[in-house]
Amino acid sequence: LSIGIGIAGTGEVGGEVVRILRQKSGLLMQRCGVELEIVKASYRSRRPPPDLLPDEVITTSLDEVVEDPRAQIVVELLGGIDDAYRVITGALQRGKSVITANKAVLAAHGGLIFARARESGAALGFEAAVAGAIPIISSLRNSFVAETFHRFYGILNGTTNFMLSRMQEGMPYSEALRLAQEKGYAEADPSLDVEGTDAAQKLALLSSLLFNTPIPPNVFTQGITDLTENDIRYASDLGYTVKLIASARRLDEGLELSVRPTLIPSGHELAHIQNEYNALFIKGDNIGQSMFYGLGAGGRPTASMVVSDLVRVARSLEKGTSSFPVFFNSEMIPLVPIEEHRSPFYLRFGVMDQVGILAKISTILAEHGISLSGAWAKTVSNNVISLVVATHQTRSGDVYQAVKKIDASEGLTSGSSPVLPINDLRNGEK
Ligand SMILES: NC(=O)c1ccc[n+]([C@@H]2O[C@H](COP(=O)([O-])OP(=O)(O)OC[C@H]3O[C@@H](n4cnc5c(N)ncnc54)[C@H](OP(=O)(O)O)[C@@H]3O)[C@@H](O)[C@H]2O)c1
Repeated sequence: LSIGIGIAGTGEVGGEVVRILRQKSGLLMQRCGVELEIVKASYRSRRPPPDLLPDEVITTSLDEVVEDPRAQIVVELLGGIDDAYRVITGALQRGKSVITANKAVLAAHGGLIFARARESGAALGFEAAVAGAIPIISSLRNSFVAETFHRFYGILNGTTNFMLSRMQEGMPYSEALRLAQEKGYAEADPSLDVEGTDAAQKLALLSSLLFNTPIPPNVFTQGITDLTENDIRYASDLGYTVKLIASARRLDEGLELSVRPTLIPSGHELAHIQNEYNALFIKGDNIGQSMFYGLGAGGRPTASMVVSDLVRVARSLEKGTSSFPVFFNSEMIPLVPIEEHRSPFYLRFGVMDQVGILAKISTILAEHGISLSGAWAKTVSNNVISLVVATHQTRSGDVYQAVKKIDASEGLTSGSSPVLPINDLRNGEK
């Protein structure tokens, strides 16, 4: 069996897909009985070496990749939205199967793309779009089909987890970011990672599969840009580790989705996930709790997941069967507004060391119905202290409003005060 492949984009991931297909052709034939032949591959400015892709295969035209009649499967590894959307839908319209690692285009236009795939009967593989080398998408699409899910949480962004690991060791945010960029984990423009957008796009895709719902457009997202190494140290003093947690909960009133830097117990498995690794917990009604762990990004691990989709699609093309189950019905589930999410909170206020400050702050918190489980004064410099406050379980909206009022009160705090949820992740119930 030989299947023609067109690859749009031969950068970090695309280049590694080509390398794996070249280096592992014998193994793939032995294991899977398929020969995957690259018939066209595109680049824009960085041409891959000619020994990897000869002149007759390489092009700078995306249309040539999509339109080549020999390309039965088109692999989109461009990134971005508009051109990627054009390549994906152009290939699906021609009845070609598509594989992509692009969570941004799926989060933005997934509904239309899935509809196109359904109409054309072609396969759409996107294992590599979520959690790098962790095969969570194929587990959800193929293995956990009898599960009803109520809970998901995890670390879905390797760059920020790498940075938080360094900050845990005392490194300031700006240095941790610089190191992540130096190691190639963070882009020159790191905003998609540090502002939580990348994790939110992945959570949206996962939620669609977990809860059979159209890809939710507005996941509440709070990045790590306002975190300081002091917050991480204070959290640690209280027995918590700060992680950028993507969380989904199915409640009677709707779906509670968020990506937020969260204090989790330092003894929890997720607190031990270091560097660029990702980890995910899901809870199904039959299987109970399941944990996945692995490299969350990187050209080679991501490319390996693209190849896994390629092999699956190629084998089904031979048999004329569908490679992935098609979800016939999806149910529109409303999102619970962030204001209604409930948890205990960690708050930090930079205040002048004066009598009565704590009383003023706790009065405003009490006016919003927020009770404290503890308060600690941490000296930062001569006259300024960091006042760390932990609250009991409370409505997010009340906490956001109270902190806004405190920050707006003349002479009370310096700058805007961080508001971080505390989640004990106990039994996966919270
Ligand atoms: N890198 C990872 O660790 C990772 C992990 C998981 C998922 N992904 C996803 O995989 C996809 C590819 O990422 P990557 O890291 O491989 O990116 P990359 O290194 O920037 O490679 C992208 C490739 O596509 C080309 N390209 C980009 N936009 C184009 C356009 N509009 N027209 C024509 N060619 C274009 C680039 O050309 P130039 O060289 O000229 O820019 C390059 O060849 C993205 O969707 C990303 O989110 C990446």
